[in-house]
Amino acid sequence: MTAAPDNLTQRTIDFVKSSSLGEVSGHDWWHIYRVYNMALYLARKENADVFIVELAALLHDIDDWKFNAPGSCRAHEWLTQCRLEKNKIRKIIDVIETVSYKGAGEPNKAATIEAQVVQDADRLDAIGAIGIARTFAYGGCYGREIYNPYCPPVLHENFEAYKKNQSHTINHFYEKLLLLKNMLNTATAKVLAVERHAFLEKFLAEFFAEWNFNTGSGTSEIIK
Ligand code: ADP
Ligand code: NI
Repeated sequence: MTAAPDNLTQRTIDFVKSSSLGEVSGHDWWHIYRVYNMALYLARKENADVFIVELAALLHDIDDWKFNAPGSCRAHEWLTQCRLEKNKIRKIIDVIETVSYKGAGEPNKAATIEAQVVQDADRLDAIGAIGIARTFAYGGCYGREIYNPYCPPVLHENFEAYKKNQSHTINHFYEKLLLLKNMLNTATAKVLAVERHAFLEKFLAEFFAEWNFNTGSGTSEIIK
């Protein structure tokens, strides 16, 4: 385990907090805060390097492909500016680069225990009640329909297809959220995912029961 030099963790918290103010798509500071705490918990349970995990968790969304130009490297710039040793910067960036979900057909690339822990923490925040709240926040932010019964669920074979998809928000449960429980790395996260996954299923069952109430198929006779 390595200790944080010059309270770098606290300085990074302040940096990330100020960078994510006003973010309304479910990737706000509180998402980072939850992932940071969960990653720390998993790191201790799974004997990962706590310093690498903390920094990677704090910086994991700062260069996200959805909100930045390709090749964005604010995490790297920040750590360099803070004069962290090069080999540690490399380890942190390696974690960040492997964390993000790229669609059902893309392989899971988290190779080190540090990357696995941060990826699991991020994915646990994408399921359960909080995951549902974030998903509808994202859908609202990008003007997506809540649901459209004429668009059946789509899974994507590769990252390009996943990125392009503009479907309704319920589709995101099928293209991502319901798949996450089987894509977790660590034993600790797999246990935590059980209830969160069950909650997704319960939510969908209730959603469709309400939607289909007295229409049978979900689409009424007169509205096509
Ligand atoms: P990752 O952190 O693996 O890169 P994302 O940033 O793509 O994952 O997704 C994080 C969360 O943002 C999702 O779990 C979901 O709540 C929301 N989100 C991302 N893409 C969509 C989408 N197309 N529709 C609805 N919610 C989405
Ligand atoms: Ni995230």
